[in-house]
Amino acid sequence: MEQLDIDWKHLPFGYYPTDYNVRCTFKDGKWGEIEVSQSDKIEMHMAATTLHYGQEIFEGLKAFRGKDGKIRIFRLDDNAERMRSSAEGILMEPIPVDLFREMVIKVVKLNERFIPPYGSGASLYIRPLEIGISPSIGVRAATEYLFIIMVTPVGPYFKTGFGCTDICIMRQYDRVAPRGTGRFKIGGNYAASLVAGDHAHEKGYSAVLYLDPKEKKYLDECGPANFFAIIDGKYVTPKSDSILPSITNRSLMQLCEDMGITVEERHVTVDELEKATEAGACGTAAVISPVGTIHDEDTGHDYVIAPDRKPGPISTTLYERLSAIRLGEYPDEHGWNTIVE
Ligand code: PLP
Ligand code: COI
Repeated sequence: MEQLDIDWKHLPFGYYPTDYNVRCTFKDGKWGEIEVSQSDKIEMHMAATTLHYGQEIFEGLKAFRGKDGKIRIFRLDDNAERMRSSAEGILMEPIPVDLFREMVIKVVKLNERFIPPYGSGASLYIRPLEIGISPSIGVRAATEYLFIIMVTPVGPYFKTGFGCTDICIMRQYDRVAPRGTGRFKIGGNYAASLVAGDHAHEKGYSAVLYLDPKEKKYLDECGPANFFAIIDGKYVTPKSDSILPSITNRSLMQLCEDMGITVEERHVTVDELEKATEAGACGTAAVISPVGTIHDEDTGHDYVIAPDRKPGPISTTLYERLSAIRLGEYPDEHGWNTIVE
């Protein structure tokens, strides 16, 4: 395999071109053959529903190179299942789990030389996306869909990696509506978060910690990641209909249970942050990004979670266990990894 001149240890979370992507089209009521493409362009009708009415859903998952040289894809079936749920959420054609699985494995194998080496801390980010491609000027669902999976090697999402980052609460912004599309992974949710995210960055914060859009009383999620806090030694994470059900968060909850740490998935009020001894943003891209300070823009109050700017002991244990499972260094007791043969 041709060696790549990539500084794996300092990869940003960005787009790095790879060799191939895979595609499949839904037309005349059925999914077609899987195509392998070397082009990073798509040609489509200018009246495609994805362009006018936002029929777009996506996923994010990762492949890792283990110490044993094996390639492991983390929780592939769970991402397939969430993509099915997102499709139903905005009336798109669901992708059969077997097709999703086959295409993910295929695109990873085809781009094997882009899987970062063991020990680099980087991974191969897998980005499946589905778009409505048939034309419509009336507001209605497409009859034809394109499913594409691209991959790109990535480093940490927040530039601090597993180091403390600061986030803020800004009540003037909502990402989603109370009974809206927050629990689906649709492009529109991210478009709706851009102004708030930009405002937070301008103020020096890496992300917005959104509150529930109905009452602004409870914590929701943290930019493109879920949120957890350690309160009274328990792993506490918001329960909400307006957040994305994070597969990373679910994994961390399971690891807590395995390690005898109590998990509470419930409404969490803003003032409970006063009692948090650790906090973090968690997700595929974010992994665990420990939170240093949470600034409340409306009250001016700072919740200083990590005065020493160091990740706390529970976050560190969870991070290490999760990494070890994904790299094949700790038994995969829950069957989360798909080993690519
Ligand atoms: N919340 C949002 C809005 C996200 O975009 C993501 C990323 O996928 C997450 C949470 C974390 O979900 P997961 O752990 O499944 O990647
Ligand atoms: C992920 O963590 O996979 C995401 O989709 C977050 C992303 C929007 C960068």
